[in-house]
Amino acid sequence: MGKAASFYAVEGVDGCGKSGMVGHIVAHLNDGGYPAIATREPGGTPQGEKLRSLLLSGTDDAWDQQSELLLMTAARVEHVRRVVLPTLERGISIVSDRYVGSTIAYQGAGRGMSEDYIRFLHKEAVGDVWPDLVIVLDLDPAIGLARSKKRLSADAIDEGRFETLDLDFHHRIRRSYLDQATRDPDRHVVIDALGTPEEVRARVIEAITLWRTRQAR
Ligand code: TMP
Repeated sequence: MGKAASFYAVEGVDGCGKSGMVGHIVAHLNDGGYPAIATREPGGTPQGEKLRSLLLSGTDDAWDQQSELLLMTAARVEHVRRVVLPTLERGISIVSDRYVGSTIAYQGAGRGMSEDYIRFLHKEAVGDVWPDLVIVLDLDPAIGLARSKKRLSADAIDEGRFETLDLDFHHRIRRSYLDQATRDPDRHVVIDALGTPEEVRARVIEAITLWRTRQAR
C-alpha cells in the first residue's frame, strides 16, 4: 500500500503531543513493513541540534527575527541535504517533528514576517522539498502551553523560548496551521488532538492509513 518511502511532517502548537506521536507513527510504519525513522526540527543533524539549543534557549529577544528565520532555515538545509533526501533515496520514510510549516506559522503568522519571503528562502536554500503528508495536531494553545511548560520544568529542559510568548502569539500559530491545511488540503490532515493519547493516536493512524490507500490508487 502506498509508495515505498514517504516524507511525513507532524505539526502543531507547543504541547499538542507531536513528539510522542512521531514515535507512534514510526512504530506503526515499521510494524507494517515500511521502514521509517523519526527526526526533528530544528535539529535532526549534529549541527542542527547545536542551532536548536541556540534558538530555543534564552529570552524572546535573544535573536532578531531575521536571524531566527535564517538559523531555522540553516538547520533545515542541513536536515534535508544530510538526512531527509538520502534517507528517502534509500527507501526509508521520514517522520519529522516539525518542518517548514512551523516556519510559516511561527516566523510568519507569529512574528509577522512575510510568507512569500519565507517560501522564497525555502525554495532557494532548501530546495523544492515539501512533505508528502503534513499531520496537524490541532489543539487549543492554552491547553498545549500549560502542558508544554509543565514538561519543560519537570524535565529541566532549557528550550522554552517560544513558550514565553503570549497566548495571542500561539493563537496565531494555530490559525496559521488551519489556514495552511485549508489552502493545501491534499497535503494536510487536521487531527483533533483533544482526547486521551490512545484516542488521538487512533485518529492519526486512521488518517495515515486512509491517505496511503488513496496514494496507492
Ligand atoms: P518543539 O520541538 O518542542 O516543538 O520546539 C521547537 C520550537 O521551535 C517550537 O516552539 C516552534 C519553534 N520553531 C519555529 O519557530 N520555527 C521553525 O521553523 C521550527 C522548526 C520550530
